[in-house]
Amino acid sequence: MNKIVNKVKNGLMGELNFPGDKSVSHRSVMLSALGASPVRIVNFLNAEDTLSTAKIMGQLGAKIEFVGDTELIVTGNGLHGLNAPTAILDAGNSGTTLRLLMGLLSGANIAAEFTGDASLSKRPMKRIITPLSTMGANIESTDGKLPIRIKKSEGLKGVTYEMPMASAQLKSALLLAGLFANGKTTVIEPAVSRDHTERMLAAFGASILRGENSVTIEPAKELIAPENILVPSDISSAAYFMVAALIIPNSDVILKDIGVNPTRTGIIDVLKKMGGNIELNNKRTVCGEEIADIRVRSSKLSGVTFGKEIMGRLIDEIPIIAVAAAFADGKTVVKDAGELRVKETDRIKAIATSFNKLAKGMIEETENGFVVTGKLPINFAAADSFNDHRIAMSLAILGAAAKGVEIENSESVNISYPGFYDTLEKF
Ligand code: S3P
Repeated sequence: MNKIVNKVKNGLMGELNFPGDKSVSHRSVMLSALGASPVRIVNFLNAEDTLSTAKIMGQLGAKIEFVGDTELIVTGNGLHGLNAPTAILDAGNSGTTLRLLMGLLSGANIAAEFTGDASLSKRPMKRIITPLSTMGANIESTDGKLPIRIKKSEGLKGVTYEMPMASAQLKSALLLAGLFANGKTTVIEPAVSRDHTERMLAAFGASILRGENSVTIEPAKELIAPENILVPSDISSAAYFMVAALIIPNSDVILKDIGVNPTRTGIIDVLKKMGGNIELNNKRTVCGEEIADIRVRSSKLSGVTFGKEIMGRLIDEIPIIAVAAAFADGKTVVKDAGELRVKETDRIKAIATSFNKLAKGMIEETENGFVVTGKLPINFAAADSFNDHRIAMSLAILGAAAKGVEIENSESVNISYPGFYDTLEKF
């Protein structure tokens, strides 16, 4: 479906609320399903990706009851209480669902078959299959891709695994498998990636030991579910409005209750380095995750260069950082971002192709990143989201701050932020 987003005429003002964090929402249902008492999850992200996880946890025997749009009660049957599913498990578009559950089901020794949509079927799963197989898992795939079958094994043994890339999905898959393994499992990271799994596992009573660049989990007998989990609002969704407020004149907004876990705040560091006027207020910790209200005002931005030192802390925000760079003085150079080529689409190619439809020559693609030339004239044009939610939302902000845009495959925003266009159209 095509969608026209118009130029925003006035600055962004007032307070904005955002849906729950996608990563935390996935993990809240998965871990609650391994407890033995009801967990009330508040500010759960009601979007396609997280609903894929909730549906699968239901197929595995957990009781999932929605008590409102964004509130649900999950009741598990204990750590060893998952049932073998009777139907194929469909992870849809969601890499987090598939990868984390490959680890969980291999650990729990539950036979299951996974499928997913066209995008997920192209994404690499060998990075998960290889270490899980070393632990003893029995996984069949189609050359490292979907469809994937988890078969019964003789049980897993704990290993020490040095990850070849900074990936929270891989780290989490191994930690979830490690819950059930014989002996400790240690995962060594080449760079920081989001740590929601470690935090939530610890909150459920698992024995987690964190080193500077490693995490060790001991096998657990049971998990102790908390009564409530409050999911922070998603910094990755707020990021679109953070950048919109910076680049649209006369803006002054407060983004409420945003998750500011330091493994996720690379976007704030980069935007501040570009000259962004961003203030974190009312910082507090809720259910083991830091949250804050973020004030953002229109700012004069300059180009920056960044790469591997920060990549894991802002990987999902690269498309919207490219939009900020389009309005900055000078060039912005994004390096060491090769992981973008294996996201929901090849995001480097998508940014280059679609952004250049609005501003010819603005993005120059490199092997593992791209260069943005700021302050080129930006025109109205049609451009494809390539069915990628983050490309659709970034195009919308690029157009809203310029002369408008027609987004092809605009409905992809439903993966992580179904109310996105409604919020944008308030301005
Ligand atoms: C996620 C981890 C990241 C991120 C994805 C969500 C998670 O992927 O891009 O959107 O919830 O663990 P990688 O693990 O591939 O870096």
